[in-house]
Amino acid sequence: MQTNTQPLLFQPLELRGLTIRNRVCISPMCTYSGNDGMVNDWHLVHLGQYALGGAGIVFIEATAVEKRGRITYGDAGIWSDKHISAMARVTNFLKQFGATPAIQIAHAGRKSSTQRPWHGMGILSDADSEERNEKPWKTVSSTTDLMDENWHVPHALTTDDLKEVINSWRLAAERALKAGFEIVEVHCAHGYLIHQFLSPLINKRTDNYGGDFVGRTRFPLEVVESVRSVWPDNLPMFVRISSVDGMENGWSLEDSVAFARELKIRGVDVVDCSAGGVVGSATAKAVPRHLGFQVPFSEHIRKESGVQTMAVGLIVDGPQAERILQKGQADIIAVAREALYDPYWAHHAQRALNPQLVSYDNWPTEYCWWLEKREALIRKLREQSDKPINN
Ligand SMILES: Cc1cc2nc3c(=O)[nH]c(=O)nc-3n(C[C@H](O)[C@H](O)[C@H](O)COP(=O)(O)O)c2cc1C
Repeated sequence: MQTNTQPLLFQPLELRGLTIRNRVCISPMCTYSGNDGMVNDWHLVHLGQYALGGAGIVFIEATAVEKRGRITYGDAGIWSDKHISAMARVTNFLKQFGATPAIQIAHAGRKSSTQRPWHGMGILSDADSEERNEKPWKTVSSTTDLMDENWHVPHALTTDDLKEVINSWRLAAERALKAGFEIVEVHCAHGYLIHQFLSPLINKRTDNYGGDFVGRTRFPLEVVESVRSVWPDNLPMFVRISSVDGMENGWSLEDSVAFARELKIRGVDVVDCSAGGVVGSATAKAVPRHLGFQVPFSEHIRKESGVQTMAVGLIVDGPQAERILQKGQADIIAVAREALYDPYWAHHAQRALNPQLVSYDNWPTEYCWWLEKREALIRKLREQSDKPINN
């Protein structure tokens, strides 16, 4: 049973009308294995294992709100009603095994129309068209500047275009709700479309949607407002940000604090504190890496803005995660690569925090009775092997 004597990591978390069984979250992870945005058996099994593995929140990967906003042809999508039922299959399974299903809705902007990582991660080329019939498409952004040398030239979204894009986010959130998700996260990080408005390194617009902090945050905040307007009051909303660009004259930690305050006013419950990605690959290349390298961002934003935060990035085991929570550096711990390595990360973290734990109550019922017998047997055999041999 979950009680207050549990480590903080395994105490339930209440967010609006939701009670989440613990504070372990599986971070959104693109797997590029959908088809025309449709999720399939892969997503069911891949995400389902994290519910069996004990996580409190399980995020489905960055899911495109518009077809042209996909990173690759394999991205999950929610730009049409046809996507709802396949997603519902996944959310039903997650709920059945005690996890809270969460969706990250996203638009890649000028980082769209690229190859899957295992096809090279560059822009789609003639070879991709020939080999897999994957033709490049026209990308969009805050400006016409290229992501990198020889990349696609994006169309700079006009004020009228922005209205349509904002509407796509709202419709995506409505569909996510119909599909059974209980947390929606707006992806404002990693150099994707919303970050392309936030970052002064990219957004060089001279209209109302560029310029100073107020101008650059206008479109992101309008997206957040439109999503919140259809997301029920009893369900939480998250926003993932790149806490810093990690480059000179880029988005700063103090910008993130000010942005978090604006998000909180608009009904955002949790700011998910990632970093980097403004140019180059998706995440924080520009930010030096060490264990928990983004935790100080989460701590600072939490303390200065009063918003709840999620920490992510090289959080590798239960004791490290527990220390972050105990020190008040975050409210939720997200893991990505560790979960790929060990889908039962949450269960293993709980045992690492309590080596005396005998019960497997929180594991799937189908396994638990068998694992308890296994544990008792191993303990007995270990005791026997420790006994001195009498001649
Ligand atoms: C395979 C993979 C796919 C990812 N896809 C996404 C994504 O869809 N959206 C996102 O915001 N971050 C994505 N990320 C970043 C992770 O959510 C996470 O922030 C990052 O990997 C750092 O956490 P970690 O050290 O626990 O892996 C991805 C990471 C990996 C490894």
